[in-house]
Amino acid sequence: MHRVAVIGGDGIGPEIIAAGTRVLDAAGERFGFNIEWQAFDIGAERYLESGVLLTEDDLADLARYPAIYFGAIGDNRVKPGVLEKGILLAMRFAFDQYINLRPIRLLRGVQTPLAQKGPGDIDFVVVRENTEDFYVGIGSRLQGKERRELEVIRNLYSVRFGLDVESDADEIAYQIGVVSREGSERAIRYAFECAARRRKKVTSVDKANVLTDVYGLWRDVFSGVAADYPDVEHEFNFVDAVTMWFVKNPEWFDVVVTPNMFGDIITDLGAMIQGGLGLAPGGNINPNGTSMFEPIHGSAPKYRGLGVANPVATIWAGSLLLDHLGEQEAAAAVLSAIERSIADGVVTKDMGGSAGTMAVAEHIAATILSS
Ligand code: IPM
Ligand code: MN
Repeated sequence: MHRVAVIGGDGIGPEIIAAGTRVLDAAGERFGFNIEWQAFDIGAERYLESGVLLTEDDLADLARYPAIYFGAIGDNRVKPGVLEKGILLAMRFAFDQYINLRPIRLLRGVQTPLAQKGPGDIDFVVVRENTEDFYVGIGSRLQGKERRELEVIRNLYSVRFGLDVESDADEIAYQIGVVSREGSERAIRYAFECAARRRKKVTSVDKANVLTDVYGLWRDVFSGVAADYPDVEHEFNFVDAVTMWFVKNPEWFDVVVTPNMFGDIITDLGAMIQGGLGLAPGGNINPNGTSMFEPIHGSAPKYRGLGVANPVATIWAGSLLLDHLGEQEAAAAVLSAIERSIADGVVTKDMGGSAGTMAVAEHIAATILSS
């Protein structure tokens, strides 16, 4: 038996998660395990009613689960950034989910906007560092003078900045990015381990030609880790260049490892070349703790409750979740059943079909059960 926490969240979140749990239950039935789902009411609605985002109690409860199945958050009534930082990023940091794993793979039968590229050409994994870089959330806006103590507190380390800032500009803003040796090393090592089980190539993506300190450290660590894996080829790319290569030669990539912010950006590009946001899953992984699996798209409030949202990204995220729980066979079966549903034309409108969210899930579930 597995116990999994569920946060449907906002907008289409609850519908796509209902589709996902339906499929994972079918996988459990087929492969002989049971999942006990525990729903958590976390999201915009609760925030608007009671002003809380993520409480200490939520964190303590969630910490008892090996995995969280997460829909989406985001609501037009809430100022941008509040839910993202207060819920999603707060969970990634609190549970030290230091890997953001994003498979970029063109499934059979899916259209890519890249001419002359097929499933064999688009099949790589982005390992995005998930706790550092410009996501640490420290910075300030000011006029004149200011003295600030800024800190980043992590399980792995903490950093404090005492800053005296003085400026005669009308207003300035600054944001500090932090990269640590141990923080980069664990993400980079994870990427090499992953490549060792795949096509044995790791590409580092950074901007060490301009942000020479933060990404200079990243590169040093990358080179150090690479030396431990003589059988895995490694290379460096600058982030601007990699956006060209993802489009022109996606077949070059096997595992791409990158600091947090570039990882955020290039995985949306990755989502497009794999057929769109409706097909892109992500895992926020702490190999020894509570991990979280989610579609990388948002809450799409205007489609809420219509039953038309594409559940594939969420179901695929469910496959990553099963993999994390040690159910490799079931995880693989979910992914092949997704491909089957595409071949059968049981897809939502964004993929040129007319099936509803639950109909897609039911078809995938039935495929798994009859496999
Ligand atoms: C993602 C999202 C988040 C991020 C936002 C919602 C905070 O874009 O998961 O990629 O920037 O990491
Ligand atoms: Mn993003």
